[in-house]
Amino acid sequence: FAGGPLAGVRVMVTAGPTREPLDPVRYLTNRSSGRMGFAVAAAAAEAGAQVCLVSGPVHLDTPRGVTRVDVETALQMYEAVMARAAGTDLFIATAAVADYRMAQPAERKIKKQADELPLTLVKNPDILAAVAALPDGPFTVGFAAETDDLETYAQGKLEAKGLDMIAANDVSGGRGFDVSDNALTVFWRGGSLSLPRQSKSQLARELVALIARHHGGCLPS
Ligand code: PMT
Repeated sequence: FAGGPLAGVRVMVTAGPTREPLDPVRYLTNRSSGRMGFAVAAAAAEAGAQVCLVSGPVHLDTPRGVTRVDVETALQMYEAVMARAAGTDLFIATAAVADYRMAQPAERKIKKQADELPLTLVKNPDILAAVAALPDGPFTVGFAAETDDLETYAQGKLEAKGLDMIAANDVSGGRGFDVSDNALTVFWRGGSLSLPRQSKSQLARELVALIARHHGGCLPS
């Protein structure tokens, strides 16, 4: 893959869900299978990049030519990403990171007790925003999984997190999460492009080609 559009570019991709423990045997998580992120990592490797894939717990084989770091929680994903961010040119965040974790996971299995069980959750760090805020940090591409007002929320995240690009993913009606196909609308300051529904592998190739054109500075920003 040496002569591809991302030849010599160091790419980091986050993928999959995170798992936030409630006690030693239970956790909070979401429906992400990791397929979108693994497809993006594979497409970046095909495009010639040196790819590091930081993945939550998934049941997928590592794409050819990709280095994989497995994590479980959002805090572990944050540590793994921040430890490697300085050596990264391009960061693509496809992971469905838990926004909250248990303030104090129980050390022993929580026993069945009263009819209600209040749980106190605290906010996890935003990994993508932290990478985007790094001085001389990488070119950053976020994903935005939304069930409504796709464009408004995606544009909001592009600005609020200080990103270079964002891929808006309509996840209403069972779309996006844990299925083999997907569609995205990609926004950047001054433009957007809709990538139609197709296999996640093919979609990832189109997304990576678009990112490569922006990262290389060939499109107006
Ligand atoms: O894994 P699959 O089954 O293939 O499904 C793919 C997908 C639907 C998970 C994927 O295409 C997708 O949309 N990923 C983003 C999911 C999401 O939860 O987005 P968000 O809108 O909550 O977060 C916005 C962005 O910030 C994302 O790039 C996310 O990775 C990042 N983020 C969010 C919270 C946090 N604490 N740290 C982050 O880095």
